[in-house]
Amino acid sequence: MADGATPVNSADGENRREFLYLAAGAITAVGAAGVAWPFINSLNPSADVLALASTEVDLSQIEVGQSVTVTWRGKPVFIRHRTEDEIKQAEGDDGAGLVDPQSDESRVIKPEWLVVVGVCTHLGCVPLGQKTGESRGDYGGWFCPCHGSHYDTSGRIRKGPAPLNLLVPEYEFLNDTNVKIG
Ligand code: FES
Repeated sequence: MADGATPVNSADGENRREFLYLAAGAITAVGAAGVAWPFINSLNPSADVLALASTEVDLSQIEVGQSVTVTWRGKPVFIRHRTEDEIKQAEGDDGAGLVDPQSDESRVIKPEWLVVVGVCTHLGCVPLGQKTGESRGDYGGWFCPCHGSHYDTSGRIRKGPAPLNLLVPEYEFLNDTNVKIG
C-alpha cells in the first residue's frame, strides 16, 4: 500500500457497493415513473374519440312518416318521425300483453320522435322497416327476418324470439330540431 493512502476495509467497500446499487435503483424507479405517466395519460380517450361517443342529428328534414338511420358508437340508430296513427297505435297498446312491458310514453321524449338502437335484441340482426317498401312486421314497426321478431311502432317486441324491446339510447333535444344521442 502506498504511503498516505487510506486503507479501505472490505466492510466499507461492501457498504459503498450497496449504496451504489440503492442509488441506481432509485434513479431507475423515478425514470420508469417518468416514462409511465405519459403512457398512462395516452390511454385516456382523446377529444375526437369522446366526440364519437355522441352523435348530433338535425331532424328538420325528416318528414312525418319518414325514418332515418344514423350511426352511433358503431351501431345503427333508427329515428322515426311518427305519424299520429303510429303514436295512437303505440299508446293504445300500452296495456296489451307486452313481452317486455314499457309504456310508449316512457320510451320517448317527444311522442312524434322515436329513437331506438336498430339492433334486434334476439341475436343482433338489423331489423327491416327503415326503407320504403320493407316489411314492418305485424305491428307496423320493424321486422327482423333472421328469426321472425316483430316490433311495434314504439319499438317494443310483440312477437318472435326477441326477449326485449329495441333499446332507447340516452339522448336529448338540443333545440326543437336537433338531438344529441349519447
Ligand atoms: S336476430 Fe332478430 S329474430 Fe333473431
